[in-house]
Amino acid sequence: MEFQEIADNMFIKHPHVPPVLITKAEGVYLHDNYGRTLLDFSGGPMAVNIGHGRKEVARAAQQQIEQVSYILPVFASEARIELVKRIKKLMPKELNRIYFCCGGSEANEAAIKFARQYQVVAGKPSRYKIISRKLSYHGMTFATLSLGDVKARMRDFAPMLWNFPKIEACYCYRCPFDKEYPRCDIDCALDLERRILAEGPETVAAFLAEPIVASAAGGAVPPPEYFRIIRETCNKYGVIMIVDEVVTGFGRTGKPMGMDHFGVVADIATFAKGVSSAYSPLAGMAVRGELVELFERNEVEFQHLYTFSAAPISCAVGNEVQKIIEKENLIARAEQMGNYLHESLLQLMSLPMVGDVRGKGLLWAVEFVKDKKTKEPFPKEKNVKMDIIMQCMMKGVFFYPGYYEDDEGRGDHIMMAPPFIITEKQIDEAMAVLRETLEESQERYYAE
Ligand SMILES: Cc1ncc(COP(=O)(O)O)c(C=O)c1O
Repeated sequence: MEFQEIADNMFIKHPHVPPVLITKAEGVYLHDNYGRTLLDFSGGPMAVNIGHGRKEVARAAQQQIEQVSYILPVFASEARIELVKRIKKLMPKELNRIYFCCGGSEANEAAIKFARQYQVVAGKPSRYKIISRKLSYHGMTFATLSLGDVKARMRDFAPMLWNFPKIEACYCYRCPFDKEYPRCDIDCALDLERRILAEGPETVAAFLAEPIVASAAGGAVPPPEYFRIIRETCNKYGVIMIVDEVVTGFGRTGKPMGMDHFGVVADIATFAKGVSSAYSPLAGMAVRGELVELFERNEVEFQHLYTFSAAPISCAVGNEVQKIIEKENLIARAEQMGNYLHESLLQLMSLPMVGDVRGKGLLWAVEFVKDKKTKEPFPKEKNVKMDIIMQCMMKGVFFYPGYYEDDEGRGDHIMMAPPFIITEKQIDEAMAVLRETLEESQERYYAE
């Protein structure tokens, strides 16, 4: 297929990425129509956990279509029941009610709607505000865009977005309070109580945060005490705690769920991406049993339902993916390969433009800066992150862009989230391409 034919049939010309036709995806590799091979070092958008093209998943999808291709989401399918059981084994035992959606944005939308409706059913209709955090991302719908903080994605819609309160990010590399751990007293966690009090606790329905921030702050891992303080604050003021496990769930950080690193259980955990390893649109939320029981006691329906909620084919795909993860012990492998990747990334720290590397398991980011001491970013016009990503892509390795931007639109980091089946040799290959690209280009980025 010619370049122009591909371009003409895409919706809109991408300003940075040339039209590429992927003709085959297998394991950790993508193949295009020019016969080139690309190492998928980001697992798509941090989603393809088991690798591409597993035949067992294809067979499971086919069998499901032959058996029950579609049913209204108020009915159960065998695939759905099996998937609920599998998810419950991976979630904390308290989060034992599973609701299915079609994507991460919708799962977060469903979670905040559930939290709000819960407050109404509980006799607290004045509670409607959702507090979220700066430097976070929760999706593309109006509600979830409003709750996130990815400026480029929000800018053109600003007058249409909600103006709900946000607390400071937990971003130790550039602490919003100019403090340093551990002497900071985890001020960013204490910010939640200050915000609840300023808004009036009787107006706040829920708090939403990513356990480990994915692309909005690039693998920012909070200190161990952070979520304990958040949990206590939510308990104290009757605020529902929602964690967005869209990226971190299902093994990405080397444990079943991202929150497993912090020993704290939220009230709702949303999930997407890794639950089906992106083989099928599948997402959802796991909710504390008591919250759902309140709806049941009052015979209230949860007012959220899509045609494709709990679609049998997606549930069948999810089951097969989770079976593979369990059988091949891939969560342990994510931890093990993550440690290896971390070691390699630390070696990049010797380069002048590498300001920070951070992450957990197989979710990592590298942040590039103009000045390592002051952490000053490169000027926006240099577009350093996209330049690096494009160069690496030409050399056969794909990294994913991070969204972090300061008030002047500056900020450069790239994300790494390869499939869990990645090998040490493939990690070495990706790191060699990245190092070579940085060494070749840095002079150009520093030139005035
Ligand atoms: C943390 C987080 N939450 C939510 C979403 C939205 O998920 P989706 O793109 O499936 O709507 C994303 C997508 O990248 C994400 O990274």
